Amino acid sequence: MIIIIINNNKRADGRDFNELRPLKIEAGVLERADGSAYLELGGNKVLVAVYGPREFYIRRMQRPDRAIIRCRYNMAPFSVEDRKRPGPDRRSVEISKITSEALKPAVFLEKFPRSTIDVFIEILQAEGGTRCAGITAASVALADAGLPMKDLIVSCAAGKANGQVVLDLSEIEDKEGEADLPVAIMPRTGEITLLQMDGHLTPEEFEKALDLAIEGCNKINQKQKEAIKKRYGE
Ligand code: CDP
Repeated sequence: MIIIIINNNKRADGRDFNELRPLKIEAGVLERADGSAYLELGGNKVLVAVYGPREFYIRRMQRPDRAIIRCRYNMAPFSVEDRKRPGPDRRSVEISKITSEALKPAVFLEKFPRSTIDVFIEILQAEGGTRCAGITAASVALADAGLPMKDLIVSCAAGKANGQVVLDLSEIEDKEGEADLPVAIMPRTGEITLLQMDGHLTPEEFEKALDLAIEGCNKINQKQKEAIKKRYGE
C-alpha cells in the first residue's frame, strides 16, 4: 500500500483531513466570451468560457419553454503527466453531462426559451478533482455572463485514503485511495445537484464524507462570491 496519510493525521501534502488545497478564483478573464472564470485548486488549473444565451441553431433540439445548458469538459493534452490524446473520450463525455446537470438547477432557464447556454471547461493542468473544480469555475463564469441565477453551484469531493475520510482528494489520494465522493450543492438551499461515488465506503463513512464535502463546498463558495465581488465591486 502506498502511504498517503502520514503521522498525526497529516496527509502527504501536509494538509489536515478536513483541509482544502490552496484555492484561487478569478471572474471575467476572457474578453470574447460572455462570461468566464479561472480557477486554481492545488495543482488544478481550469479555464471556463460561457457563451449565450443565444438561439439554439439545432431546431429539433430547442426547448420551447426554456434554455438548455450544453457543457464541454476538455482536458488539454499537456494537462496530465502522460500526454492525453486530444478529443472527447468516455470520461469527458460523462463529466460534460454531469456538469450540465449539476449547474442546471441554479439558472432561471425558463427566461430564455429556444436558447442554448454553452459552457466550455478547459482543464489546463490536472491534479485530481477536476470535475469539481470545473463545476465551481463554470458557475462563476455563468454569473459573470450576467445570467439570472438562484444561487451559485459549488462542488468539492471528499473520500477515503489509507482508511481515513479526507476532504478534497489530491491526485494520489484519488488514484491510490479507497473512495472518491464528488458532491455539488446549491449553498442557499443545501440542494445536492451532483453526487457520485467511486470505490467503497461504509454507511457511516459515507455520511462523514458527505458532511465533509458539504463543509468544503461552503468554504469554496466564499471564494466564489469574493471573485464575483472583486469583478463587479461590492
Ligand atoms: O479529475 P476528477 O477527479 O474529477 O476525475 P477522475 O476521472 O477521478 O480523474 C482523477 C485524476 O486522474 C484527474 O484529475 C487527473 O489528474 C488524472 N487523469 C490523468 O492523469 N489522465 C487522464 N486521462 C485522466 C485523468
